[in-house]
Parts: sequence; C-alpha cells; structure tokens
Amino acid sequence: KSGEAFRVVEVGARDGLQNEKKMVPTAIKVELINKLSEVGLKTVEATSYVSPKWVPQMGDHDNVITQIKKYPGVAYPVLVPNLAGLKNALQNENVKEIAVFGAASEGFSKKNINCSIEEGFNRIKEVTEEALKNNLRVRGYISTVIACPYDGKTKPSVVADLTEKLLSFGCYEVSLGDTIGAGGAGSVGRLLDEVSKAAPLEKLAVHFHDTYGQALSNVLVAINRGIRVADSSIAGLGGCPYAVGATGNLATEDLVYMLHDLGFNTGINLPKLIQTSEWICAQMGRNNASRASIALLSK
Ligand code: HMG
Ligand code: MG
Repeated sequence: KSGEAFRVVEVGARDGLQNEKKMVPTAIKVELINKLSEVGLKTVEATSYVSPKWVPQMGDHDNVITQIKKYPGVAYPVLVPNLAGLKNALQNENVKEIAVFGAASEGFSKKNINCSIEEGFNRIKEVTEEALKNNLRVRGYISTVIACPYDGKTKPSVVADLTEKLLSFGCYEVSLGDTIGAGGAGSVGRLLDEVSKAAPLEKLAVHFHDTYGQALSNVLVAINRGIRVADSSIAGLGGCPYAVGATGNLATEDLVYMLHDLGFNTGINLPKLIQTSEWICAQMGRNNASRASIALLSK
C-alpha cells in the first residue's frame, strides 16, 4: 500500500457530539472543526440540519457552519434529513456538501427519521435531486447495515439494493453504517461480498461504531476488498441518540495509526491529531476512547 491515498472522513463534530446530553458550546464545536482541518483531514463533517426538537445538540448548525474557517481543499458536509432541512441549508452559502441518510431496517428508520425505509428513500431522492440542482455534492449513508437494535440482523442483499439506489439518485459515495457496531470480520465480509456486486468499490465508504471492539478489524476487511474511505470520530466520541447502547465511532487516531502502519498516505499529522483529541476530551470532561492516543501519550 506504499503511498496509496486513503481518505478519512472525520465525523466527530457530528456523530461524536450529537448524542451529548449537555450542550457543547458552539465556540468549542467551531474550534474542534478548525483544529481537525489543521491536522490534515480532507473531510470534516460539521453538523446536521435535522430537527432541533429531535437532536437539540445540532440546533446551532447555522452558526457552526458560518463560523468555522473554511480551509482550502477541506469539505464540510452537513447532514440533511428532508426538504425542510435542505431549504435551511441552502440559505447558508457556506454549505457546499450535504449527507443524506436512510436505514436498512424498518425499526431504526422509524425511530430515527419517523418513517419507513421506502418513505425515507423517497425523501432522500427528492433532497438529492434538489441539492444537485443547487450545485451541492451529496454523500449517502445507510444505517443498520449489519444489524438493527429493534429488528435484529439485516440482510446484505437489502443493503446492496439501497446502495444502488443512493448511487442512482446521484450520491457520489455511499457510507455503509454499522450503527450499533454489531459486525465482525465475518459479517462485514459477507456484507461487502453482496454490496460490491451492486456498486463499484471506489464509490463505497465504511462507517463502524466500536461497541464490540471490532471496528478496526472491520476496516481492515474493507481495505482488503479495495475500499479506500472510512469514517471515524476523534477520541472515539459519539453514538446515535436513536440507537440505544451504541457507543462511539472507531477512534480516528486508531484508524490513522493502522493506515500509516499499512503504508497509506492519509495527509494526517498523527501527533497533532492526538493533541486535538486530548483537547476535546478535556473540554468535555471525558476519557479518551482511543487506544493509540493513550499509548502514544504515555510514551
Ligand atoms: P417529524 O417530526 O416526523 O417531522 O421528524 P415533520 O416533517 O412531521 O415536522 C415536524 C416539525 O419539525 C415541523 O415543525 C417541521 O417544520 C419541523 P412544527 O410545525 O411542529 O413547528 N422540521 C424541521 N425543523 C428543522 N429542521 C428540519 C426539520 N424537519 C422538520 N430538517 C425528522 C422527521 C426527519 C425531521 C426527524 O425525525 C429528525 O430530525 N431526525 C433526525 C435524527 C438524527 O439526526 N439522527 C442522527 C443522525 S443519523 C446517524 O447518526 C447514523 C449515521 O451516523 C450512520 C450510522 O452510524 O448508521 C449517519
Ligand atoms: Mg454513525
């Protein structure tokens, strides 16, 4: 893998913070996103234009996207669940990219976006079309690709069909989300067997939560299949408010440590990333969930 490029999508400011009960001040979110840009990340998901009644922590979306420094070459996607969210996002000229999201299970779809899978994908289609008309880039997410906290195991063929759908709507990439971190090397391999029949590998990304400590080996399975984009969250922050018991994402520092060991070029400065990780943990009074951060700091 010597020198081959790998893109890390940092979701800490969105997936990492959305579940925090205590409101994180906007200024801290802005500083976090600026610091993440400075470590060399090329995609830093910034916030969500979801309903503030559903996710109060993301209610300051407009101020966050306005106040962050816009580093050249860095994308700052925002999550958009419906046309109402898109309308708000379009009013802010700083929004250049959105992420749309649906689920592969009925139970989670209902709990997360208050509609069925089919209705959710109909909404995504209209949001994506409208966003593309307005020259925004659109990234797609599918949740519960391995299992659902309400419905149990997900069939890989369902995920393959939904991936194909998102690409046909015009998403430039689809991120496969193991929302509750239930997957392991076996189930993730079986999922990718199926999805790679329906979609080109260069259009796929993986998004693992680390509930069972399997996220890093799951990414390695994806890498060995040829996938070169993975989502992660600084310090392993996070969890989804509508997926009970799900922990944070794979920690970005752990992912970057593995990628650099494999010889990938991420453009990320690991020591600087770890400083940022310690900083955000101190701001939030949290322990650092990244093993690489803890190990490298204790040296
Ligand atoms: P709903 O209650 O069914 O919406 O929620 P509605 O269309 O019936 O509207 C109800 C009210 O909300 C109305 O206001 C709307 O105007 C307002 P009222 O008339 O009562 O005053 N409203 C909005 N306000 C602001 N922004 C909006 C918006 N839409 C409606 N966009 C809705 C449906 C989709 C809005 C809601 O369920 C929602 O916001 N859900 C988002 C939940 C969420 O953010 N989950 C976490 C992100 S997904 C995730 O974490 C998974 C991922 O990481 C991948 C993985 O790990 O699997 C991506
Ligand atoms: Mg997630």
